Amino acid sequence: MAEPDRYAVIGHPIAHSKSPIIHQLFAEQTGEHLRYDAMDVPPDKLGDTINEFVSKGGRGLNVTVPHKQNALKLMDTLTERAQLAGAINTISPTDDGKLEGDNTDGVGLIADLRDNLHVELIDASILILGAGGATRGIIPPLMEQKPAELMIANRTAEKARNLATAFADLGNLNARSFDQLEDRNFHVIINATSAGLEGEVPPFPNSLIAPDTVCYDLSYSMHETPFIEWAKRNGCKQCFQGWGMLIEQAAESFAIWRGVRPDTLYVRNRLP
Ligand code: ATR
Repeated sequence: MAEPDRYAVIGHPIAHSKSPIIHQLFAEQTGEHLRYDAMDVPPDKLGDTINEFVSKGGRGLNVTVPHKQNALKLMDTLTERAQLAGAINTISPTDDGKLEGDNTDGVGLIADLRDNLHVELIDASILILGAGGATRGIIPPLMEQKPAELMIANRTAEKARNLATAFADLGNLNARSFDQLEDRNFHVIINATSAGLEGEVPPFPNSLIAPDTVCYDLSYSMHETPFIEWAKRNGCKQCFQGWGMLIEQAAESFAIWRGVRPDTLYVRNRLP
């Protein structure tokens, strides 16, 4: 049998990445012949690693924390959604030896929320907690769903305001600090802060959650994330970690590379 086509995810740290298992399951399910590794790449080795991987015939890379923004600067071309997000998670070498950067995180989130979880986004009031790179990437695809309002709240309110201004022409976008949200609740609340990684939840007002509010954490863990714990404590009945988004963004990358769309349910049923 011919050598398998090579793919990898690059990040730092990378040991806990689920991407290798997800892509191997996609390959198994679609009958594609490929190998997918995880590579720990410190920031100062990013450019060299990408170039070496591709020059040895590597067919595609996923990019994760902390490289998503810096890797974008190393690309020859970018898709429109990668440009809008200001970050990439997928690299494809083109036939003429160039590097194309794409970002499948946003479509992954929408596929999970709308198609898997059947969350109504049209005319919904949506709150994003956090105003970093992850938030920037999900604003355009969420606004495409035509929500009634998208509110961005952040510890550093100025960063939320900057994002609301940058994307103002997409629709009804507003920005607040956490304590300015005391009297509001939302249909959908998305946690895009990295706060949970440190094990604590920022001072989100308890009143944000109404009986039918859906809470979604972009983070995921083998245990309940601090944000999901907080949401449940405050009466949320529909809380989800970002496992589905992780699988859906991977499926989109796989489809770009292989021209075949894997069945994400096959993977969902085999991950914890
Ligand atoms: P990412 O690419 O994951 O979005 P980032 O760009 O570093 O990472 O953004 C991290 C986000 O988590 C920011 O919104 C940050 O708030 P600040 O802009 O005020 O720094 C938020 N965040 C991180 N730790 C936090 C904490 N302990 N409490 C509240 N917000 C936190």
